[in-house]
Amino acid sequence: MAEWTANDIPNLQGRVVVVTGGNDGLGLESAKALARNEAEVILACRSTERGEVAQREIVAAVPHGNVHVMELDLQDLASIEMFANEFNERSGRLDVLLNNAGIMGTPYGVTRDGFEAQMGTNHLGHFALTGRLLRALKRAARSRVVTVSSSAHRTGTMRFDNLLFRDGRGYTPLKAYGRSKLANLLFTYELQRRFERHGIDCISVAAHPGASQTNLGRHIEKALVMRLLEPVLRRVVQDPAGGALPQLRAAVDPEVRGGEYYGPGRFHGMSGAPVAVRSSRASRSLRDARRLWQESEKLTGVRYEWAVT
Ligand SMILES: NC(=O)c1ccc[n+]([C@@H]2O[C@H](COP(=O)([O-])OP(=O)(O)OC[C@H]3O[C@@H](n4cnc5c(N)ncnc54)[C@H](OP(=O)(O)O)[C@@H]3O)[C@@H](O)[C@H]2O)c1
Repeated sequence: MAEWTANDIPNLQGRVVVVTGGNDGLGLESAKALARNEAEVILACRSTERGEVAQREIVAAVPHGNVHVMELDLQDLASIEMFANEFNERSGRLDVLLNNAGIMGTPYGVTRDGFEAQMGTNHLGHFALTGRLLRALKRAARSRVVTVSSSAHRTGTMRFDNLLFRDGRGYTPLKAYGRSKLANLLFTYELQRRFERHGIDCISVAAHPGASQTNLGRHIEKALVMRLLEPVLRRVVQDPAGGALPQLRAAVDPEVRGGEYYGPGRFHGMSGAPVAVRSSRASRSLRDARRLWQESEKLTGVRYEWAVT
């Protein structure tokens, strides 16, 4: 079969897409490609200033682009609630939620609500956001939630006795990143099971970009291991437009099925056109997925309302 490219994105007129972290890196590239194909795109950004710079960049490249900026800080449950309330009031229907925003390899820190920052941003923030946007997702036919994970999920382990590295106990920047990206996949698969169980016309899909040249590595690029790996990485790293293709495919390809995981097909999943890939055994643990869901509900206070309204 031919390789999937940006030319395979169908016309998206009338479809509403929220891209978290849509102002930079893969989020910005995804937003551009979606706007080019006539989706209405909402850039959900923690800085509306940076969001507006991105909005101008997209409209310069895509003059017919229908792009808006809304404030969303995934490190703040109150900001997530405000974003969702505003979105629900204004639009009320959501075709695709692209849970893209993320941080990697940061020194130990906590969110406004006291969660370890990488789990807080990458997983808990998106868990709360998805739950609060569920009503809007249910209002659209065949809607999708796409959550961006990473090959680094393979290094992650779930430890429910110290999920959030309390007070920095057991914390290393890459351990916490790996755990948060494993959580992204446990969440994706559990969400798909719950959509099926409750007969919701929405699918949950995951994607990862392989290795892509963005600002994500700002906290680790000076580390010795990264400097040693640089000559290898330089050969396989994709530009952000290439890195965004797996999440774009997961978001719009009509062939995609709930519970799938998309990533680059070459160089051990580092680059190449997007294909369905397999995630680690740990990411498919039903027990960990259920436990993570319970913990996420408890921590965020967000309960998903499944009844179709
Ligand atoms: N690049 C890669 O090679 C790679 C590999 C594997 C997985 N990924 C995944 O791909 C996704 C996108 O990463 P990227 O490479 O595009 O990184 P990036 O260039 O650093 O962009 C990250 C985006 O997330 C936003 N963000 C961070 N914290 C936020 C918060 N609290 N609230 C709202 N938005 C927030 C950033 O906003 P600001 O501009 O305000 O910081 C930025 O827009 C992430 O989930 C990452 O884990 C990337």
